[in-house]
Amino acid sequence: MHDVKTLQEIFNAHLKEQSFNAQPRELYQPIEYTLALGGKRLRPLLLLMARNLYGHEVKDALDAALAIEVFHNFTLLHDDIMDQAPLRRNKPTVYKKWNTNIAILSGDVMLVKAYDYLSKTPSKNLVAILATFNKAAVQVCEGQQYDMNFENRNDVSIDEYIKMIELKTAVLLAASLKLGAIIGNASNDDAEKLYAFGLNMGIAFQLQDDWLDAFGNENEFGKQKGGDIIANKKTYLLLKAQELASSEIKTKLSAVMYDNNITATEKVDTVIDCYNELNIETEIQKQIQYYNQKAIESLNGISVTRDKLQIIISLAENLLNRKS
Ligand code: IPE
Ligand code: IPE
Ligand code: MG
Ligand code: MG
Ligand code: MG
Repeated sequence: MHDVKTLQEIFNAHLKEQSFNAQPRELYQPIEYTLALGGKRLRPLLLLMARNLYGHEVKDALDAALAIEVFHNFTLLHDDIMDQAPLRRNKPTVYKKWNTNIAILSGDVMLVKAYDYLSKTPSKNLVAILATFNKAAVQVCEGQQYDMNFENRNDVSIDEYIKMIELKTAVLLAASLKLGAIIGNASNDDAEKLYAFGLNMGIAFQLQDDWLDAFGNENEFGKQKGGDIIANKKTYLLLKAQELASSEIKTKLSAVMYDNNITATEKVDTVIDCYNELNIETEIQKQIQYYNQKAIESLNGISVTRDKLQIIISLAENLLNRKS
């Protein structure tokens, strides 16, 4: 089995072989820009790790890993338009650096390229591979729509929120693992267990993204601090705060959310003050731990030895300490 660093090197080398140096430049430059900024490249790593559980050679999974990463980056181009986010990976977002139309169209090409890569996967299971990918891709869009719908609602429940983040984020992590398993000719049962692991890990991952958005260090996280607060996102932080707040804090929270006369910084600071008063960080950390534990339990009964699984379990645990 390869270690994390080797799998990352194998993937990065494969990514480097791809060229987006085509015309018109306005269409392809944003793709080069986005992919060169890197990010954690978590999803291809998960896919290759899962593949690696069923054999040392991961070459046959490289194009699917590329497909998942390009698809993920496509969602980010469009997500930043929807969220009006100015910063990603510490650099201006594509729609800010170029414009919205360019971010839409470059994203569209990335989606098509993702399918191009996926279809190159040398596997007798290509139909199942496509079905898994397609299901996740549609669910991501469903989750993104709920995320936007919730901006204008004040009665979102925590259950609805968890369902929303499962769709917009967790299913793609889950599908990455499942694709790796399918390419490795794993049993259906194993593929589903890895999927369930990814789903729970993905929920923990998005909860943590929400936490970092408010409490992370902007330079390390690479995104605008408090972006979710500015956009009235219904994050776990906000929903839990509304649940635990005294009527005084509740009034303060809702007043600040819809006050057009205060600056973004004032809004973010006031909401974070409320979170601090209510100890919301402790609450969200409990949830993150809960879903992480659930992820590990999802692997019970898988046909792979604990020894081999450790690399994936350690990755999930290391992610709990991430700063970006
Ligand atoms: C960002 O994903 C979008 C979410 C689902 C939270 P990542 O945190 O994996 O972003 P990069 O690719 O590492 O920048
Ligand atoms: C990410 O949700 C979901 C997708 C991009 C599909 P966020 O909107 O929280 O992601 P970031 O924080 O902008 O990376
Ligand atoms: Mg966003
Ligand atoms: Mg978003
Ligand atoms: Mg976020």
